[in-house]
Amino acid sequence: MNLPPRVRIVEVGPRDGLQNEKVAVDIDTKVELIAQLAEAGLSYIEAGSFVSPKWVPQMAGSDEVFSKLPKNSKTVYAALAPNMQGFERALECDVKEVAVFAAASESFSQKNINCSIAESLDRFKPLAEQALSNKIKVRGYISCVVGCPYEGTVDAETVAMVAKQLLAMGCYEISLGDTIGVGTPASIEQLLERLLQDIPADKLAVHLHDTYGQALANVLISLQMGISVVDSSVAGLGGCPYAKLSNGAAASGNVATEDLVYMLNGLGIEHGVDLKKLIGAGNFISQKLQRINGSKVGIALQ
Ligand code: HMG
Ligand code: MG
Repeated sequence: MNLPPRVRIVEVGPRDGLQNEKVAVDIDTKVELIAQLAEAGLSYIEAGSFVSPKWVPQMAGSDEVFSKLPKNSKTVYAALAPNMQGFERALECDVKEVAVFAAASESFSQKNINCSIAESLDRFKPLAEQALSNKIKVRGYISCVVGCPYEGTVDAETVAMVAKQLLAMGCYEISLGDTIGVGTPASIEQLLERLLQDIPADKLAVHLHDTYGQALANVLISLQMGISVVDSSVAGLGGCPYAKLSNGAAASGNVATEDLVYMLNGLGIEHGVDLKKLIGAGNFISQKLQRINGSKVGIALQ
């Protein structure tokens, strides 16, 4: 099997996870979760989101979360910023890395950030410019890379077009979001085959929600195709509040970080995470949220 020797894990639980939880999580619990994740060896943690609190109330306290994070030179704490207002909040919080988020579906773009794909890219350009001039790195997300809750199947050409524009404005990496988890190894392979014609593998990451139970299989095919950055969410927390399925059900969280780490261990791929400590963090937040741990490995090894 052709696999990378090392994978960089992007932990998105405190953002992608908690943004979609019904139970409000207090600031200290968020900070404690992030501290436990950093202690487990996760070197990149998406710790919050500077979006409108009217749109996503769960992320309202991100400014305070950032002010309380344990300082440590080994961990990058990142945040989403949808516009200049969000970027200015990130700047005030001394955030070292931000992520902008576009979509490959017009309807999803409208529902999620209230503008078209082209308008969102126009909005991100000055944000990226400001960020780079302040030595803040910018990551780019694309949602709905294989399927959209409103439009169905999404064309890989659209994903390629959005990805190239995000890279051109200075994003160092594009995270490909299967927002509603409809992808299978076949559709993910097809998407990556198309993107890799124009974009080197080291500029791409995968962000795979597990709604249909395909996320780990989709990670594996991505690794086999040369991708070595994988987003994941501790205890499988989360989803996107603007990604309801056609039957009204919510889309699930990302592949659980514990399940990803267990698989990488089995494949002999380095990642730098202590599985036992990670499971501790997953149990901590699951208890706080009073929900069953969404990681199978978290349950099997507790
Ligand atoms: P809008 O209503 O068009 O914004 O929303 P606006 O510029 O017209 O401003 C309206 C109000 O919002 C104003 O306040 C602004 O001050 C305020 P008012 O005058 O009414 O009191 N506002 C803000 N407040 C704080 N921080 C800000 C901000 N911006 C405006 N940054 C907007 C446009 C983009 C703001 C809104 O649609 C929004 O916040 N959307 C975010 C939705 C979101 O967070 N979705 C989840 C994250 S994306 C995701 O999960 C997918 C991903 O995981 C990948 C995948 O899985 O595919 C990344
Ligand atoms: Mg997501």
